[in-house]
Amino acid sequence: MVFSVGLLVVSYFTASAVSGFPPSHLAQAGFGGADVVLSCSLVEEGAGLGTMGASGSQFSRTPATLVLRDLPVSPDLSPETLTPYNPPANPDPDDIIIEAKVTSPEIPEADSLLHADCNEQEVSCEISRYFPRGVEVDAAVAYFIGSVMLEGGGISLTLVLQTLPPMGEGEQSAATPLLQSKLELPLTQSGTILTEVAFLVFSRLQSLRAPLGGDAQLDCGFKQQDPFPVHAMWLEWRLQHRGSGRRVLEMKAMETEEQPIVHVDRNGSSVDLALVVKEGNVSLTLTKVKVPDEGTYICTVSAGLYQAQQVIQLHLTQPPHVSLSVDTVIFKDGLPQKVSCHCERYYPLDVEVEWLYLLPSKEEPISLTQNSSLTSHRQYSDRTLSLSSHLTIHPSALPAGTVVTCVVSHSTLATPLSVSLTVSAPEPARSYWMLVGMVAATLLSLYFLLK
Ligand SMILES: *[C@@H]1O[C@H](CO)[C@@H](O)[C@H](O)[C@H]1NC(C)=O
Ligand SMILES: *[C@@H]1O[C@H](CO)[C@@H](O)[C@H](O)[C@H]1NC(C)=O
Ligand SMILES: *[C@@H]1O[C@H](CO)[C@@H](O)[C@H](O)[C@H]1NC(C)=O
Repeated sequence: MVFSVGLLVVSYFTASAVSGFPPSHLAQAGFGGADVVLSCSLVEEGAGLGTMGASGSQFSRTPATLVLRDLPVSPDLSPETLTPYNPPANPDPDDIIIEAKVTSPEIPEADSLLHADCNEQEVSCEISRYFPRGVEVDAAVAYFIGSVMLEGGGISLTLVLQTLPPMGEGEQSAATPLLQSKLELPLTQSGTILTEVAFLVFSRLQSLRAPLGGDAQLDCGFKQQDPFPVHAMWLEWRLQHRGSGRRVLEMKAMETEEQPIVHVDRNGSSVDLALVVKEGNVSLTLTKVKVPDEGTYICTVSAGLYQAQQVIQLHLTQPPHVSLSVDTVIFKDGLPQKVSCHCERYYPLDVEVEWLYLLPSKEEPISLTQNSSLTSHRQYSDRTLSLSSHLTIHPSALPAGTVVTCVVSHSTLATPLSVSLTVSAPEPARSYWMLVGMVAATLLSLYFLLK
């Protein structure tokens, strides 16, 4: 479910730029970082209502703000282009402002989040409470899961946020901090809920098109606070399609085992074990993709206490092969002629076939599509499709030299494919030639007889 973002403010953050935040949360002087402020919604399950995947009405949404602090910025980013983020002057316990330190682990592609506003890209953001498995419920520590996604392709992040004590060390902790009214969590002096990113799973490509028979790489990675190499983790790739799901690959790395254990359910699927352990790159490679490989892939990574997912769509494609039944039309006996344009072995469904003709003397093509009819789709065993369009041409309508073109559009084609045929001068009727032949033969035989 996507919630669009209205506000995206970015600030160039240096030790002096924002005075409202306690000093312990300032970026290291001299380096500078940037803050991204995202309009989010806090999603909560309705009280006493059903399970995950139920319709949206069973979840309540409350406006919230997520401030990602100290994102590393590339040096070419001009500080003047960034608007400072100002925490509210009077902290309001009804506001939900989640402030997340993201220095470790580092957010991949942070620049694209910073530039989203300039590139007129929307960022969707959702936050919900998270309860890590096997963690004792502790009033002092709460967890959130945040999902931040650049709309229209780009980075997608699932962040596990862990709350931090609202007061920095050495600060006076005698005063009882203000509590956020809905979440009942202590607020900083600036009225934010202070957290840090404890774990994240990301993908740089949420939707991928791959040619049938080719290879596809589904991008997914994770980062955690503990440094690499990873000693214990669990990875699962699942494929979800039209309501049914199946496992594609599973990997377990355990401290007690030297080698990770990998289960492959789809032949020709793999992850690069060295990259998984060294960099947290759990991208899945599928070789020789076929139509049944199409669908929604879910990359789930568990490490330490945390588990998070990314969802990646795989679409398969094959452009049509286009041909004509003839390359020249010769009218016989003054009768209309039928020609066919064949579109073969394409995927996915939906081609559009148009017919045009161009008179020798004219420049503008004229549509003939209304004189054609389409066959129904035929499907091959590899689930690619074929279809033909038949066009009937009347000899009186098109003079010799006219070029007739079949134009095929399909989602895999950047520009439509076209194939052409030419209308030839009409062949004299057969009866006429037979008569001429008979007369000639008679004359010849007469000639020889007389001789
Ligand atoms: C994983 O490695 C591949 C190949 O080097 C690279 O193309 C991809 O971007 C990496 N993905 C992540 C999530 O690190
Ligand atoms: C995968 O390959 C193995 C060996 O080539 C074969 O025995 C098995 O049936 C294949 N599995 C699938 C699901 O195609
Ligand atoms: C297209 O069809 C119309 C009538 O349906 C006919 O008059 C016209 O000649 C046809 N055009 C060609 C090029 O055959």
